[in-house]
Amino acid sequence: MTQSQANWENEITRRRTFAIISHPDAGKTTMTEKLLYYGGAIREAGVVKGRKNSKHATSDWMEIEKKRGISVTSSAMDFEYKGHHINILDTPGHEDFSEDTYRTLTAADAAVMIIDVAKGVEAQTIKLFKVCRMRGIPIFTFINKLDRHGKDPFSLLEELENVLGIRSYPMNWPIGMGSDLCGVYDRMKNRVELYQDGSDHQEISSVEVSGPDDPKIKSSVGEVLYDQLQEEVSLLDIAGDEYDESLIAKGELTPVFFGSAINNFGVQTFLENFLQMAPSPSPKKSTIGEVDPLNGKFSGFIFKIQANMNPAHRDRVAFMRICSGKFQRGMNVRHVRLGKDIKLAQPMQFMAQDREIVEESFAGDVIGLFDPGIFQIGDTLCVGPAFEYEEMPHFSPEFFAKVTVKDAMKHKQFQKGVMQLTEEGTVQLFKTHPWEELILGVVGVLQFEVLEYRLKAEYGVDIELQRMSYQIARWIEGDKEAMDAVKSRSQSVTDRYGRLVMLFDSEYQLRMAQEKYPKLTFHESSLGLHRVTE
Ligand code: G4P
Repeated sequence: MTQSQANWENEITRRRTFAIISHPDAGKTTMTEKLLYYGGAIREAGVVKGRKNSKHATSDWMEIEKKRGISVTSSAMDFEYKGHHINILDTPGHEDFSEDTYRTLTAADAAVMIIDVAKGVEAQTIKLFKVCRMRGIPIFTFINKLDRHGKDPFSLLEELENVLGIRSYPMNWPIGMGSDLCGVYDRMKNRVELYQDGSDHQEISSVEVSGPDDPKIKSSVGEVLYDQLQEEVSLLDIAGDEYDESLIAKGELTPVFFGSAINNFGVQTFLENFLQMAPSPSPKKSTIGEVDPLNGKFSGFIFKIQANMNPAHRDRVAFMRICSGKFQRGMNVRHVRLGKDIKLAQPMQFMAQDREIVEESFAGDVIGLFDPGIFQIGDTLCVGPAFEYEEMPHFSPEFFAKVTVKDAMKHKQFQKGVMQLTEEGTVQLFKTHPWEELILGVVGVLQFEVLEYRLKAEYGVDIELQRMSYQIARWIEGDKEAMDAVKSRSQSVTDRYGRLVMLFDSEYQLRMAQEKYPKLTFHESSLGLHRVTE
């Protein structure tokens, strides 16, 4: 092995690329900020926070988002920590929740799930969790806001199992909660980390102990909490799940950490354990089998396209996850779908509001590529023999609308614009049959406004959106006769690759259809389903 090969292999194995999934307000921004702080990437609080607050937004994103005070950078933030190179992929989660949020998860090797101790598992967490589950990536749980009174820790573990269907292994255990919070007991290291109210725990104050029954704990936390801790930890030891690395790697067991992000309590312990347990860039499925990140040749795929990052230039940025090898600025790569070579001249990396040109990057990293309109979500770029990574799946939209152009003379621009925005992944496009009316589907309702705004601004087209009552889409597969029967129903449509999709108003309607057509499978996403047309 040459020196330079050893170097880049080391660069790849020290990388950790993950996304944070949570429901709004659970503490994702706070956590991200604390992690960046540990990595020295930011020196003060508020840097990340400003991104979702119009007061601080200095970016020049799309007008519509500016008006609403939402910024949509959604890329990656990177930092170094104790020899690791960490990439946090940003998952838009508030009003800007969209399919991009799901797609970002396809570029992550692990997920960190933040749960508010008082609220437990919430709606948005469930949706994002499902996508992680589908990919089988490891999921690490941080139960946040321990400085506030919340649910009983055992009932939270039960919720993980009952609502999400994932078993858990608490890595630490709270000693008190809310105003009684004294600290956490670290089950792996046999030590108690003490919580001091109001301090921004830069240094953890901890006590090494022989076990949860060590009398040293009693003198630190008092008799009542000491007794409770002993009881609870022994219950965990007896009745809880065992620590099992292979189940963690498959995303079937989640290590659980308790802490308080805003108080920096438990964040560093979380980070250090996470870095030990989370995988380095993992192999990814492709048309030539799994591609190993350490396979010397560069490859990557586009998982997100950001339009109008600079309205003055109307440029787009395509975000690429590097999956194997090393990337160098100016290198020539194969754009597999177009069957041609392109030069990647101005790759960018993003940190909060800033962008900078990158000279080199490695598998696990995310870079932004200037896109003059040649990229689509899911495109593969590679060096050497051409192959493609598996298709980027579509997920069930939750809002649907029939779309028509107001001025029939502009039909051509309308079609072009809708196609373009569908390729970028702003909306999903379905067609009714036999009339070929266009139905748009989105997972976040803001996307309708984005579409309306952009069609007007970029294509000069006014549209009419007629909201529909559907809330669920399912990709249908199976017995041909049953498929034909479904096709004749009014709520059946085709997606843009000609695959049959059924739309439903409610879970109840969906269940009725499943009962009626037992020979059909109702898929929640298009992952792995054959395209009928290109
Ligand atoms: P999000 O990105 O998941 O939406 O959550 P974010 O970090 O913005 O946190 C939501 C709110 O919860 C914020 O309060 C934040 O300060 C608070 N928070 C985060 N971690 C903790 C914690 O460990 N304990 C407590 N008690 N609160 C926490 P806010 O009032 O909405 O915003 P701000 O005025 O504090 O900025």
